[in-house]
Amino acid sequence: MYRIAYVSTAHGDISSNSLQKILESAIENNRAAKVTGIMLFNGSNFLQLLEGPQENVEAMMAKICKDKRHRNIVVIMREKSVTREFEDNPMLLQTVKSSTSTPPEGIRVTDDVSLYLPSSLSPHFRNLLENFDTIKA
Ligand SMILES: Cc1cc2nc3c(=O)[nH]c(=O)nc-3n(C[C@H](O)[C@H](O)[C@H](O)COP(=O)(O)O)c2cc1C
Repeated sequence: MYRIAYVSTAHGDISSNSLQKILESAIENNRAAKVTGIMLFNGSNFLQLLEGPQENVEAMMAKICKDKRHRNIVVIMREKSVTREFEDNPMLLQTVKSSTSTPPEGIRVTDDVSLYLPSSLSPHFRNLLENFDTIKA
């Protein structure tokens, strides 16, 4: 098991429709690749965690890095792991409140990300996810 987390900056306006498109391909492809994770969008930036078999996670990351809908991709975590944190979620997406006017179907809009985080998550990473709405760059 392997995980990568990165932050990036949205390129251009990310409408709820384009968020939905990203989520749809993520759910479909990640399920097939046994990759799970979470993605946050705060109106300007993405924070995504991908976890699964190392080869699949790296391949997914390489594909995501070529996507023109975001730029300035910075990897903040790249490590081997024993457990899978987001067991049931090919890609759970949270938008932080008010980042989109109409929340697309299947996307949870919340100002309390902690409600969706597994209790096993490391305190360091938990803190980052919980405060992501306040760190716009
Ligand atoms: C911030 C961001 C996160 C993304 N996350 C994923 C992901 O987890 N899985 C995925 O398959 N595609 C993800 N994508 C989309 C990919 O870059 C790519 O467009 C998509 O995988 C192509 O899917 P297709 O080969 O089915 O056409 C993401 C795109 C962006 C901008």
